Amino acid sequence: MHNANQPHLAHRPAVAARSLSKVYGSGEGTVKALDGVDVDFAEGQFTAIMGPSGSGKSTLMHVLAGLDNATSGSAFIGQTEVTTLKDNALTDLRRHRIGFVFQSFNLLPMFTAEQNILMPLDLAGQKVDRAWFDTLTATLGLTDRLSHLPSQLSGGQQQRVAIARALISKPEVVFADEPTGNLDTRSGVEVLSFLRRSVRELGRTIIMVTHDPAAASYADRVVLLADGKIAGNIDQPTPDAVLSGLDALRNLDDVPTTTGSQPHVSGEVAR
Ligand SMILES: Nc1ncnc2c1ncn2[C@@H]1O[C@H](COP(=O)(O)OP(=O)(O)OP(=O)(O)O)[C@@H](O)[C@H]1O
Ligand SMILES: [Mg+2]
Repeated sequence: MHNANQPHLAHRPAVAARSLSKVYGSGEGTVKALDGVDVDFAEGQFTAIMGPSGSGKSTLMHVLAGLDNATSGSAFIGQTEVTTLKDNALTDLRRHRIGFVFQSFNLLPMFTAEQNILMPLDLAGQKVDRAWFDTLTATLGLTDRLSHLPSQLSGGQQQRVAIARALISKPEVVFADEPTGNLDTRSGVEVLSFLRRSVRELGRTIIMVTHDPAAASYADRVVLLADGKIAGNIDQPTPDAVLSGLDALRNLDDVPTTTGSQPHVSGEVAR
């Protein structure tokens, strides 16, 4: 905590990165997945991270959440500098302060929906807040599915179980990596609507990776990533604004030497 590089916390970002870099491999096979990322994610906001495949989106989430270590720079959850924590403290952070939702649901097949949702509390030896459990499962429309096994649930229902599991311990931050990637449009809308509601009504902070401009438009803000760097920011994103922002990124890649011909986009691209 006594670190000169600690960000100024006047706005109390829920999550922050400072000069965050991540290099995979060594020698010839080196890949710079994150290249000096500086970004704040405000408390009580729903942010979407977008960018081309391989731009570092998953790596950024993993390093911020302490699932992967940084090569240099700092990541913060609240006032905790994740990048300096030792194993036990990291496990503690992940169990009590962070929730995850993955594209592939990652439910345990031998356990019912209810048992899956309560799993994080069991692992952490925490008591169940029944009122919160009931609120979550009712809001997610899971009340009459709680005794079902994952194989007896639709994809959308399984993902809603995974979201309830991510939120059951009331984490400060929920990281969701392409949570609607394996869902049909209708199930995707259910999941996105709930994520937005949980930010508005339940005061959660959510950071979501998505490739889908329509999904991103559920967020309060889009952060664009390209080649491991922050490449833009779109507030109150509409699907059209997101598409323009992504197009502008693509054009930056394709014609790096052209000047004065960047399309005008409503986001702040390539600052
Ligand atoms: N464990 C790893 N070992 C080596 N290289 C890795 C590893 N994980 C990621 N990379 C590389 O780091 C870069 C960023 O990967 P990352 O998974 O963060 O991209 P992404 O933006 O999430 O892409 P996608 O949209 O395809 O999921 C890529 O070039 C990838 O090949
Ligand atoms: Mg990814």
